Amino acid sequence: MIEPIPAAELDPAALRGRRVAVLGFGSQGCAQALNLRDSGIDVAVGLRTGSASRAACAELGLLVETPESLARARDVFVMLVPDEAQPALYEGVLAPALRPGAALLFAHGYSIHYRALRPRPDLDVLMVAPLGIGEQVRRQYTRGRGVPGLVAVHQDATGGARALALGYAAANGHARAAVFETTFQAETETDLFAEQAVLCGGLTELITAAFETLVVAGYPDELAYFCCLHEVKLIADLVHSRGIAGMRRSISSTAAFGDATRGPRVIGATSRAAMRELLAEIRDGRFAAELDAEMAAGAPTIEDARRRAEAHPLETVGARLRRHMPWLEEG
Ligand SMILES: NC(=O)c1ccc[n+]([C@@H]2O[C@H](COP(=O)([O-])OP(=O)(O)OC[C@H]3O[C@@H](n4cnc5c(N)ncnc54)[C@H](OP(=O)(O)O)[C@@H]3O)[C@@H](O)[C@H]2O)c1
Repeated sequence: MIEPIPAAELDPAALRGRRVAVLGFGSQGCAQALNLRDSGIDVAVGLRTGSASRAACAELGLLVETPESLARARDVFVMLVPDEAQPALYEGVLAPALRPGAALLFAHGYSIHYRALRPRPDLDVLMVAPLGIGEQVRRQYTRGRGVPGLVAVHQDATGGARALALGYAAANGHARAAVFETTFQAETETDLFAEQAVLCGGLTELITAAFETLVVAGYPDELAYFCCLHEVKLIADLVHSRGIAGMRRSISSTAAFGDATRGPRVIGATSRAAMRELLAEIRDGRFAAELDAEMAAGAPTIEDARRRAEAHPLETVGARLRRHMPWLEEG
């Protein structure tokens, strides 16, 4: 069991006097740059020349420069470009220019854990990983709340890396919820596993297989779509806010009996063995090696999966039915 870090240790003052550069202005970059600014931190955003995000960033009143000019002038570098872009940004721009004692701060441990990026030994290397997408990180902050976060230290060259991570977690709003301490290894491996087994891989295959089962058995696409995909959110919301036990107290007896007796037949011994196999591939580096090869080849598998999803009857019927529910966009 890990306890949340005590509130008294989560003090944004550890960041005062430090000059922060947020590199990237996507989902997390936008949210975190704004949160830091509103927490009174000296922050600038680093964007490559010609970046489409430059205008949006300036419109929000944020200082924008190139990563090259920030590398010489700032001392905390928040790596909020995509994981696969981080090694080249570090090698090409940061490594030759950073001052000794500067800090590299990550929102996910992938590049460091799989050694795609090997930082100089005179740098602090830390992680503050939000447990939420960028939009929630910002929305909760503006409401005076926050999403939980994970902190970790990979390299402590100055002796101040942990305090810096805790200060950043506070400035980004995570201290208003809960902050847990972990390692780059545990954060990366659990995050990848959950994406593959549950959140992306498991869920999409489950929905698709169930939809196809109903359609092949002769039921209309529309009914199959509503019950196998649309209603996932209703149950996900209950599980999210009340846990599985709370959800089971909120559903009908018919649903509860089907859940208790049929669920373990869908996710049985074979699925559990497959999960153990996925975890082994994540832990021994086989998944990361496969991903490297995929990206080097121009992401053909990812593109093929996107094309197949777009062409699937789930998408045709879904696009048609979602037009009747414009409120879905509101979340
Ligand atoms: N997405 C999330 O909610 C989430 C949650 C937890 C952790 N994380 C972690 O947070 C980090 C950032 O993820 P993200 O999803 O926020 O990234 P993202 O939205 O994909 O980042 C886009 C930004 O990165 C810049 N960028 C893209 N490729 C670049 C390159 N080759 N060189 C320089 N800049 C480049 C883009 O610049 P242009 O404007 O020039 O295109 C854009 O500003 C990752 O480590 C991710 O694992 C993300």
